[in-house]
Amino acid sequence: MKIGIIGIGNIGGTLARKLSAAGHEVRVANSKGAEAVGPFATEIGATATDARGAVDGVDLVILSIPLPAVAALPKDLFVSLPDTVPVVDTGNYYPGMRDPQIAELDAGKTESVWVSEQIGRPVIKAFNNILAHSLKELGRPEGSPGRLAVAVAGDDTTAKKTVMGIVNGVGFDAVDGGTLQESWRQQPATPGYCGDYDAASMEKALSAAVPGEAPAIRDRLLKNMSTSGPRLTHDDMIAMNRSANPLG
Ligand SMILES: NC(=O)c1ccc[n+]([C@@H]2O[C@H](COP(=O)([O-])OP(=O)(O)OC[C@H]3O[C@@H](n4cnc5c(N)ncnc54)[C@H](OP(=O)(O)O)[C@@H]3O)[C@@H](O)[C@H]2O)c1
Repeated sequence: MKIGIIGIGNIGGTLARKLSAAGHEVRVANSKGAEAVGPFATEIGATATDARGAVDGVDLVILSIPLPAVAALPKDLFVSLPDTVPVVDTGNYYPGMRDPQIAELDAGKTESVWVSEQIGRPVIKAFNNILAHSLKELGRPEGSPGRLAVAVAGDDTTAKKTVMGIVNGVGFDAVDGGTLQESWRQQPATPGYCGDYDAASMEKALSAAVPGEAPAIRDRLLKNMSTSGPRLTHDDMIAMNRSANPLG
């Protein structure tokens, strides 16, 4: 597949590397233009481009940038992209830590619904509920015991199936997270969020999510993080996220 990736940080960069290694024709972009992305693109066997080049003529777009940057993308960026091309949103809202307060999200709007409104087309939410380290290091071949899972939510069943195939291809079981509106179930501090769960546990965790409960848990966890001293390890992060799962 021709895959355009906008944002090549922890998540987008890891996906770019894996998808390129898997034989996909990958184009990568950040906010600084094709030249700035050149060394990374060369290193992973991808093509360096800008945001428009990452969208033009591709079969799949992965948007992996902070939410304020989503809102600042050119409003016509996706206008020429056929409706059949899935746009994946990996984003999470972290007000007070990385993101400014966004009133609509604070009022309870589902994050990826907000993203779809910003870019003017539906998105498929995926790769938001796995930590970058897990994405990079813990992928396993299909059928491996204990293989970790990633939730995938969206309204277009064909697009969702395509993205579930991508999830499988980079080493994880894809679990159906429902519609885009329902994707609040995989947002930060929900039971299924970034706890390294297998598919059975992920399904139970998505079902156990309680509407409106996660933001207060997220804010409490963020507060604990800011006072916890040295930088948290990956295991600390997993333990912290699992503390938000009543199923353990
Ligand atoms: N880190 C995790 O473990 C994790 C896990 C799941 C989901 N997420 C979510 O996934 C998203 C990306 O996270 P991340 O950790 O990968 O972020 P990151 O490491 O900070 O990388 C963000 C990337 O976005 C690029 N970018 C910023 N503004 C841009 C713009 N206007 N146009 C194009 N590119 C732009 C940045 O490059 P330049 O600034 O150089 O342009 C950088 O390559 C976030 O919403 C995050 O919450 C993160």
